[in-house]
Amino acid sequence: LPDELLTEVLARIKPSIEEERQMKSVAREVIDKIDAAACSAGLDVYAAHVGSTARDTWLKGKKDIDIFLMFPPETTREKLEEDGLRLARAISPRFEERYAEHPYITALYKGLDVDLVPCYHVEDAAHIQSAVDRSPFHNQYVLKRIDGLCDEVRLFKQFTRGAGVYGSELRTQGFSGYLCELLVLKYGSFMGVVEHGAGFRHGKVIDIEGHMDPSIEHPDPLIVIDPVDPKRNVAAALSGQKFCEFVDACRRFLKAPSIDSFFPPPAQPMKRGALEGLLASRGTKLIAITFKTPEIVEDTLYPQLRKAEDSVVKMLERHEFKAYRSDAWSNGSSAIVLEMLVWELPAIERHLGPPLDEREHCEKFMEKYPEAYVMGCRYVVDIPRRYDTAVELIRARLTSCGLGKHVAASAAEKFDLLIDEAALDLGPEFAAFLGKFLHAPER
Ligand code: UTP
Ligand code: MN
Repeated sequence: LPDELLTEVLARIKPSIEEERQMKSVAREVIDKIDAAACSAGLDVYAAHVGSTARDTWLKGKKDIDIFLMFPPETTREKLEEDGLRLARAISPRFEERYAEHPYITALYKGLDVDLVPCYHVEDAAHIQSAVDRSPFHNQYVLKRIDGLCDEVRLFKQFTRGAGVYGSELRTQGFSGYLCELLVLKYGSFMGVVEHGAGFRHGKVIDIEGHMDPSIEHPDPLIVIDPVDPKRNVAAALSGQKFCEFVDACRRFLKAPSIDSFFPPPAQPMKRGALEGLLASRGTKLIAITFKTPEIVEDTLYPQLRKAEDSVVKMLERHEFKAYRSDAWSNGSSAIVLEMLVWELPAIERHLGPPLDEREHCEKFMEKYPEAYVMGCRYVVDIPRRYDTAVELIRARLTSCGLGKHVAASAAEKFDLLIDEAALDLGPEFAAFLGKFLHAPER
């Protein structure tokens, strides 16, 4: 059965011959233009096609190509950026500069987004100056070995996509394309990866070249030593959550292989009635803290959103409220979402005084709180609770939580609290997210 299933999946994800030809010819044209522009500008720079479109492992319908601009290693960072831009202009008047850890340019050319990434053309991957310098080495490594396995890689990429774990960006913290390729090289086929993946345990090490540096500790759930750099874990971006979701997806697939593993039905927006009913039966309360999404790249935004989520949960806990679970969501606006187990508390709270051992401190405490009494080895006093609902606390104190620079600025400008079904005001995409967040039963 899996065989027929895999054929069916492949038919949906393998680019047509037409698409393949188009992709190759665009790549060729871009490379020729860059090389010509470099030549006429007197630059010692050439273009190289890397990534999934260079190794025939991309999925049908993909709209971006990775072209690396290979600069001599002694080029200064400023010149790399400046000349990179100059060369990008040769491709298309429509381009955008983007910054992640490293500057790059996306140019629109013949309907495709061409990522132009300046990098240093170093001798070997041990001498890289920036993380992107490894990519051309990855390309050589995979190209040499991937023959006959491209479709297996495609199946595996689609499988991780279906499981919601594809993508190494900080938004997803999942599997990069290169990681997928290496796992297929290691286990020989899509089914091979899934069979082994089902048995992965936290801390699993895969060292294809047998060259790992034992003096480096990788505190990651999955350690796949880079064949081109013994010091690096290719799976370093993978979170523990996504690692476990992957193992779960492999186990489910082996038990009951289905097309849904590759193409899960899209999450349906939760309806108002269903949300009210679910919250009532769970007895929990939903709080969405919303604010305008700062205009920064996702790799900067998501860590800030997670930091904000974490700070808010900790603040709630310090004040004796309890979040059952939390998440961050982002679109036109962003939200920190909390499902609360405890969101209202009695009128009193305990205020701790000094231990009886500290006589002088005790003296002062008793002056301030004559009604204090001994509990265990210290004085305590019952005082009126400052915030008796989670909502009041968040309203008053959100902006003094550690939120991350841009999120803090946005929240300082304005934030809203949407409670229970009012959260649906954030729109259908948020409503679909809520269904997943709350593990709402499918109707
Ligand atoms: P891409 O993110 O474009 O990946 O990075 P990809 O392999 O082309 O896969 P898709 O099909 O676009 O999703 C381009 C190259 O950058 C390096 C790899 O060498 C990759 O081929 N890279 C990127 C990594 O090594 N790790 C990452 O997390 C991301
Ligand atoms: Mn790519």
